[in-house]
Amino acid sequence: MTETTTPSTDPAARRWLVVGAAGMLGTDLTARLRDAGADVVGLGRADLDVTDADATVAAVRGFGVVVNCAAWTAVDDAEAHEADAFRVNATGAARLARAAHAAGARLVQVSTDYVFDGAATAPYAEDAPLAPVSAYGRTKAAGEWAVRAEASDHLIVRTAWLYGAHGGCFPKTMARLGAEKDRLAVVDDQVGQPTWTRDLADLIVRLIEAGAPAGTYHGTSSGQTSWFGFTRRILASAGLDTPLEPTTSDAFVRPAPRPAFSVLGHDALRAAGVAPIGDWAERWDAAAAEVLA
Ligand SMILES: NC(=O)c1ccc[n+]([C@@H]2O[C@H](COP(=O)([O-])OP(=O)(O)OC[C@H]3O[C@@H](n4cnc5c(N)ncnc54)[C@H](OP(=O)(O)O)[C@@H]3O)[C@@H](O)[C@H]2O)c1
Repeated sequence: MTETTTPSTDPAARRWLVVGAAGMLGTDLTARLRDAGADVVGLGRADLDVTDADATVAAVRGFGVVVNCAAWTAVDDAEAHEADAFRVNATGAARLARAAHAAGARLVQVSTDYVFDGAATAPYAEDAPLAPVSAYGRTKAAGEWAVRAEASDHLIVRTAWLYGAHGGCFPKTMARLGAEKDRLAVVDDQVGQPTWTRDLADLIVRLIEAGAPAGTYHGTSSGQTSWFGFTRRILASAGLDTPLEPTTSDAFVRPAPRPAFSVLGHDALRAAGVAPIGDWAERWDAAAAEVLA
């Protein structure tokens, strides 16, 4: 893809709508835009339910950029409630994409590493074939395809291993368990890129400001680690010396299978002239005080 989108001079084109604004990412993205003095409206689920077709069409009118941070994110629950998850992650995304397209807005759809099977041994390229292994992953993959079909001016931004101040997340859980337990066992055979919601929010803004071409991007930290490696860093940040031992996914079975290898490559960002998020460990050190507060 070589075409770049020239930032519009139309004032409406600069108006941002954040859908799912009360979630972990949506809260940080709305704050990031407000802090920068942007014209932004954030709608939580109580203001806009993406399963409501008429409300969705009405909500996007007059906006130049629509960011979909709304999702069914309960990965394990989705196994038994796939149709419900699909209604939000696929049909809801399709509806928002169609409405954004009709309104002439750019659509940013946040997606996930769970669209891949995790069997790779090198970072996934943006155009790697989708092969989700969980119900959640299937619904998010369907959401991606719906967005591609409905909104030509889309940016699909896949992220992974998100943590932030405004939601339940892995670092908060491990810091709590580290304080409560005598020892911890954490899986060491799943690797990925822990990513701060504030960094992802900033990346989304930078993509739009750069006039990045429509397409698929990977919004994760650089580098890679395992949940065990991440936990070691989290405990150190929390000032805890709880003994920590590595374990395997087989010893920690959950309803939804997790991809073993969730490392995403960042070539599309570089091609668009947008710097990827920094190394996961350095970014965690920057985030820790705020996230664990
Ligand atoms: N968290 C991760 O590790 C992770 C990893 C990869 C990708 N992602 C993706 O990143 C994005 C943001 O995730 P997040 O971590 O910020 O999740 P989150 O905190 O669960 O936020 C999602 C928000 O969507 C809202 N929502 C659910 N159903 C809705 C509906 N029908 N209409 C409108 N809003 C609805 C939720 O409201 P309620 O709370 O009221 O249900 C919640 O506020 C999602 O697309 C997710 O798939 C997350």
